[in-house]
Amino acid sequence: MIRLNDFRRIVFFTGAGLSAESGVPTYRGKGGLWEEYDYREYACQRAFDRDPGKVWDFHDERRRFIAAREPNDGHRIIASVPGATVITQNIDGLHQRAGSAGVLELHGSLWRVRCARCGTVTENPEAPIRSRRCACGTWLRPDIVWFEDMLDVETMRAAGDAIARCDLLVSVGTSGVVYPAADLPRLALARGAVAVEINPEETSLSPLYTHCLRGSASEMLARML
Ligand code: APR
Repeated sequence: MIRLNDFRRIVFFTGAGLSAESGVPTYRGKGGLWEEYDYREYACQRAFDRDPGKVWDFHDERRRFIAAREPNDGHRIIASVPGATVITQNIDGLHQRAGSAGVLELHGSLWRVRCARCGTVTENPEAPIRSRRCACGTWLRPDIVWFEDMLDVETMRAAGDAIARCDLLVSVGTSGVVYPAADLPRLALARGAVAVEINPEETSLSPLYTHCLRGSASEMLARML
């Protein structure tokens, strides 16, 4: 069994499956968010330009739902590993609520908003948000990387640096179908790191990994402790 304390520079690369045990639906597969909602209507810039109120209703519902959820043991174990870097695709903020610091949020956050006109990005924990407009009158946009959006260059650079230095990458609860995020395990392996996949199901990236642990995030992470 792979043991976390056999490694010095650990990166946790996480996806929606980690938050599943907190009751937050994943995106794909049975009960997945995109099974119920068409992301072209709720999670892309074109939908926002077409009907910002509708897109905000969807994200406000997500704020309400996630504000009522708690981090789980998987989040807490990750937060307890000294010096580990967390690179997440999740926008729910549960890593931070479990105590992880310096979390690299590749796909942004549900709890930040930005104004396209002023260029300001602001933390906003309200659920639902009180004002959907900036002081300048422009619609605020959730600071989330939606489909067809570019990822933040600084965040990707910091993620690349952490991957280049790591000796262990632990991928937790991601289907590995969204790029460029899904390139990170391959990058770690190319740099000579050990890479472990934690997922109850096989994924398109499974053949790449050094080890695949078929089980839930909290159960498998506890075994690695
Ligand atoms: N523990 C570990 N893994 C789990 C668990 C669990 N308890 N429950 C489900 N999983 C796995 C599923 O088997 C699946 O492979 O989590 C994965 C979730 O996959 P997705 O729903 O595709 O989520 P993710 O990979 O994070 O999506 C990537 O896609 O929709 C966009 O921007 C969004 O960040 C998101 C990106």
